[in-house]
Amino acid sequence: MRKLIIKGQNLLEGEVNISGAKNSAVALIPAALLSDEKVVLTNVPNISDVDALEEILLYLDAKIDRTNDNKITIYSSEISNKPIHADLAKKLRASYYFMGAMLGKYKHVEMSFPGGCSIGKRPIDLHLKGFKALGAKITGDEENIIIDADKLVGTDIYLDFASVGATINIMLAAVRAKGKTVIKNAAKEPEIPNIAELLNKMGADIKGAGTNVITINGVEHLGSCEHRVLPDRIEAGTYAIIGAACASNLRINNIVPEHIDSLLEKLKEMNVNIKVGKDYLVIKESKKIKATEIITLVYPGFPTDLQQVLASLMTKAKGESTIEETIWENRFLNLYELGKMGAKIDVNGKKASIIGPTKLIGTEVNATDLRAGAGLIVAALIAEGTTTINNADYILRGYENIVEKLCNIGADVILQ
Ligand code: UD1
Repeated sequence: MRKLIIKGQNLLEGEVNISGAKNSAVALIPAALLSDEKVVLTNVPNISDVDALEEILLYLDAKIDRTNDNKITIYSSEISNKPIHADLAKKLRASYYFMGAMLGKYKHVEMSFPGGCSIGKRPIDLHLKGFKALGAKITGDEENIIIDADKLVGTDIYLDFASVGATINIMLAAVRAKGKTVIKNAAKEPEIPNIAELLNKMGADIKGAGTNVITINGVEHLGSCEHRVLPDRIEAGTYAIIGAACASNLRINNIVPEHIDSLLEKLKEMNVNIKVGKDYLVIKESKKIKATEIITLVYPGFPTDLQQVLASLMTKAKGESTIEETIWENRFLNLYELGKMGAKIDVNGKKASIIGPTKLIGTEVNATDLRAGAGLIVAALIAEGTTTINNADYILRGYENIVEKLCNIGADVILQ
């Protein structure tokens, strides 16, 4: 794995353009397989998770045209429904969307369990509960899963937890089922209406995406369309936090501010000098940052994916900041790394506290997952001296051109 080497304490200035959302793109690409015709996706981020999905599509004999203007054209009329082995499936967690898409199209899928960042147990029982409710039989062993159905028939499915992945996967399986499926206690994250919109453009009949009840009337055929990936709210939030920590004057373009309302409110509470425009933010030097408290929740609550990033800013805040993580059970590993840099941290189960302000000093740290890595970038930009972040490939899974974007605003970052 590669390393990021960052010299800290530069004042950042200029503009950053936010890319298309990773968590939307990784579902839209498998969703395109449900079509019998050409699907064009635009604003697709150039990240390694998308490379991994492209590899799976090519293995399945889809025809792909990926151009460097962030466009992917997918032709899946003649794909082969082959087992997706571990070497492909384990490259990313979101490979599980091939389950819903292939089940929806062919009523049969065989694949290895997905991989991805290690931030907790990450079960997929709710996805499987949904597939079973639609009429699928599930067999397999600890490594591989076979999902098979004579036919899929719409039904009511209640999710015990508003899981993003389960909501999308059930939508994918249900679009070509017979009759009406109703997903209750569905997740409401902005990526979900973005996927439903693609499917509706292809000819599906989905209502209520973005609310906690989604109704899907099955259709027989899905056709051609063009669709744009929505802006990445987690990338936007990450750069907003970077701005709060280190900017003299930073403009963040191509965002949907209401998608990060919960973060923007916290940044205001922390005394960050931030102006919110229609589709942009401007952050100016913020000197007296105050401590705050966050609890991660499903959307529109505070996103778990920004918790580790905000933790680094908390080291600059005066007083005791607290974080309560309610979504994942293993999401504080970044704090031990922050501790190596000089942060005053106490972790107790799902709660952590950070006492600031403390001076961070550059050292060698490990990115344990994608967002932990993003948090360490914030810490390295704040720190005195040079920080080496090992396992930087985790970060490149989800942040397009991060080295270039940071260098363009005056940071000193090298990928090695
Ligand atoms: C998605 C995001 C991830 C984000 C998470 C929560 C993608 C590719 N990833 O992950 O970045 O951190 O939402 O916002 O979009 N759970 C079960 N059973 C299941 C499914 C989930 O118990 O079948 C639990 C998980 O263990 C976790 C919680 O539900 O505790 C949230 O999971 P979920 O919303 O499904 O997250 P992902 O879709 O995997």
